[in-house]
Amino acid sequence: MKNNTLAIVGTQWGDEGKGKLTDFFAQKADVVVRWSGGDNAGHTIIFNDKKYKLNIVPSGIFNSKTTNIIANGCVVNLQKLVSEIENLQKQGFDCKNLLISDRAHVIFEYHSKLDEAQEMFRGNEKIGTTKKGIGPCYEDKAQRIGIRIGDLLDKELFREKLERNVNFKNMLFDKIYNIEQVSFDKIYQETLKAFDKIKQFVTNTSLKLNDYIKTNKKVLFEGAQGVMLDLDHGTYPFVTSSNPTASSIPTNTGISPAFVNNILGVVKAYSTRVGEGPFPTEFDDSVSQDIRIRGNEFGTVSKRPRRIGWFDSVLIQHTLLVSGINKLSIMLLDVLTGVKTIKICTSYKLNGKKISYIPSTIKEYEKCEVEYIEMPGWTEDISKVTSFDQLPKNAQNYLKKIEDILKVKIVMFSVGRDRLQTIKMEEIF
Ligand code: GDP
Ligand code: IMO
Ligand code: MG
Repeated sequence: MKNNTLAIVGTQWGDEGKGKLTDFFAQKADVVVRWSGGDNAGHTIIFNDKKYKLNIVPSGIFNSKTTNIIANGCVVNLQKLVSEIENLQKQGFDCKNLLISDRAHVIFEYHSKLDEAQEMFRGNEKIGTTKKGIGPCYEDKAQRIGIRIGDLLDKELFREKLERNVNFKNMLFDKIYNIEQVSFDKIYQETLKAFDKIKQFVTNTSLKLNDYIKTNKKVLFEGAQGVMLDLDHGTYPFVTSSNPTASSIPTNTGISPAFVNNILGVVKAYSTRVGEGPFPTEFDDSVSQDIRIRGNEFGTVSKRPRRIGWFDSVLIQHTLLVSGINKLSIMLLDVLTGVKTIKICTSYKLNGKKISYIPSTIKEYEKCEVEYIEMPGWTEDISKVTSFDQLPKNAQNYLKKIEDILKVKIVMFSVGRDRLQTIKMEEIF
């Protein structure tokens, strides 16, 4: 069944291929909306032999007919946004099709500095953040001292708020962290300079989005991060500071929950994680190294090698449940080509007892033993297949097994990095 809205949600620890899928569907979307996170996201898009990396600009930007919204739930580093826009403009994309919420919070230099300092302070218990200031910016939002993009329209109001925040942060830098302070003047000037370049895009995006939906425009919600990095439903505290789940879309964009019911879970054919935290199916041998090389598993933002693990169906069942995912796309299937025996985790054992949920504490989660089934792999090159039927039998069986276990339909799969290497088995949008 076709729908007018589609939410694209990462089901693991990010980097599942959300950018690729968003770009794919954006070819026929009227609107693409980023609803959470900031430039901690790194979305890779490849078409016509060219590769693009986006951090905060939505992945529908390449279609000039698509309106791209950075919604109120996002946190935005304005200098980073401007440089991303300028970079796209140099490559021929004018970015006039962008809108930015006046309610999105601004990431300042003191946020990234604090992010770094907090990580240092955590020592062995560090989260492994991207150090982009995401956590500290959302902290300010929850503390009700954050500065929103709309505040910059009034220079005096902005000056007052910024002065108060810089003074407070400088006290922390000086007295607690013992590091260099930041300069109010520099931040004030640089922020207004960047703001000048994007202010024509700033608006009440909730009003616009409601209009688009009411007039039956096709709206795509582009997830960032993944459900296992969700502040509430992920492996807390080894998570990000926002809610990448589909259930957070209404709050983070200003629309009714009734408009979010077509939810596509993006799943890697195996698992990866950057940063610290539990990862039950992680393994480190020559097979995982092959997967890392073939899948180019190095962080888009931080370039860190991604940790590799087998497909974890207990974890995916959890993410399907908490995010209301009702269809799946399996990504990077081609990367498993040549793996002799592929494993799927089917259950966890905690204190000798089978469990089918994720324990709430890291201590318990780390105690879980993982139970696997094994499936024979395939050796045929699948990067050019255009339908399920063309896949080798063992690849078909792998997908069918995943579908059997999860009881959610796989409606598409992906066999390479290019936009064209995306196979739809059903029209969903
Ligand atoms: P996102 O954060 O979810 O948008 O994902 P990233 O772009 O950070 O990471 C996904 C990586 O996998 C990128 O390098 C993509 O180019 C790549 N990719 C996506 N789908 C496929 C696929 O089906 N096969 C292969 N080999 N690479 C893929
Ligand atoms: P996309 O959208 C993968 C991870 C970081 C770290 C944790 C907290 O590309 O899938 P943060 O800087 O957000 O406070 O870091 O979250 N992380 C991601 N990992 N993909 C992402 O985004 C990520 N965004 C944050 O590595 O473990
Ligand atoms: Mg990424």
